[in-house]
Amino acid sequence: MLTTRPRGTNDILPGEVEKWQFIENEARKVSRDFGYQEIRTPIFEHTELFLRGVGETTDIVEKEMYSFFDRGKRNITLRPEGTASTVRAFLENKLFAEPQPTKMYYIGPMFRYDRPQAGRYRQFHQYGVEVFGSHHPSVDAEVIGLACTYLEKLGLSGIKVHINTVGCPECRPQHHVNLLKYFEDKKDKLCNTCQDRMAKNPLRILDCKNSTCQEISISAPTTESSACSECKGHFQQVLNYLEILEVNYLVDPKLVRGLDYYTHTAFEILVQGIGAQSAICGGGRYNGLIEQCGGKPMPGIGFAMGLERLLLTLNNEKVNLTGLLSNPEIYIAVTSPKAQELSFRLAMELRKKGISTEKDYFEKSLKAQMKAADRFDVKFTLILGEEELANNKIIVKEMATSEQKEIPIDDILSYLERGLLKND
Ligand code: HAM
Repeated sequence: MLTTRPRGTNDILPGEVEKWQFIENEARKVSRDFGYQEIRTPIFEHTELFLRGVGETTDIVEKEMYSFFDRGKRNITLRPEGTASTVRAFLENKLFAEPQPTKMYYIGPMFRYDRPQAGRYRQFHQYGVEVFGSHHPSVDAEVIGLACTYLEKLGLSGIKVHINTVGCPECRPQHHVNLLKYFEDKKDKLCNTCQDRMAKNPLRILDCKNSTCQEISISAPTTESSACSECKGHFQQVLNYLEILEVNYLVDPKLVRGLDYYTHTAFEILVQGIGAQSAICGGGRYNGLIEQCGGKPMPGIGFAMGLERLLLTLNNEKVNLTGLLSNPEIYIAVTSPKAQELSFRLAMELRKKGISTEKDYFEKSLKAQMKAADRFDVKFTLILGEEELANNKIIVKEMATSEQKEIPIDDILSYLERGLLKND
């Protein structure tokens, strides 16, 4: 146990972590370009927030939350997603009093007690964005456009957005009636959870992973078939704006999302190659959520991307993320114990100047140190021994040419700076 991580979690090791930094930095850059500011909310919240925010009939709330009582007997949950927390922070910090819309993004770990498999973990990471305060259909398209721009900037091509309208409080009751009518004589064949869903929220049956339920659902009435004129009009305008952005989309009347808060637009970006087909991005509009969490009625929309799934996809698509590893530029080899202190000080001075420097920590032979310098693929190796110390000089070996020079110790910083500039 001591040397085993909990099931469904991952260590992100040196070598891999550079890819994470790269995709996170790109997310920050694209978000900024689109006018979003970062928000950081706590990793845990009061359980009540997710019961209200995510919805009591969702898989997340029914079976996937990491909930516990803390020592003060508060019911706490590790956040399973970022939207509810962002809404809570928006309300608690009165960001609604600022000029609207509010455009925010977040990057961080989420927790769901899911069945671990490729691309499905218990601790995973999301890059998500949320926009509060505007009903305008161009915002729906802009949010989708942001997701696509990000993926394209990372080098993914052929992105297709699956999109649907999932109704609103106006037309959803009619859809529920239609669904109940459809499932009535098929109820016995549904799984136990879906039989329960008949009473609580029949829409969720359409999202069941059970193959029999999926088969039964094939001909179920779509949300579009009962959409009100407002929903239909909004959806048509979103599609028009997507055309302007030249986003490749597919209207998928069967698309429902796994969270209860969605109204109007819902979308996913699906990829092949992680298990069967899976979503690297999911999002949509949630015009009732802010009110549901205790605020005044205010619309919202956003998406979240699974960063593990994104990296798996970049890997599968052979998108080249190499060259991100930054090797040290300098290696200092020491051939005499007397030179240790000077080499130690020199390494520090170089690092403070922003020149990444490695050195030997074991008093190894010169041969072994030169091997290490090769392994690090540095540009220059500095060799410092008793003789150099006595002459106040240092040997500089340019690794690409194997050319060696003796440089006065006092000049070494400026010499290396010039040499590194030449190499850039
Ligand atoms: P979601 O569809 O539950 O939506 O999650 C978004 C993305 O997170 C998924 O498409 C997937 O890439 C990733 N993901 C979810 N669960 C796991 C898991 N167990 N392991 C690995 N990756 C996973 C939301 O979370 C909404 N809050 C999105 C949103 C924001 N809607 C509006 N604003």
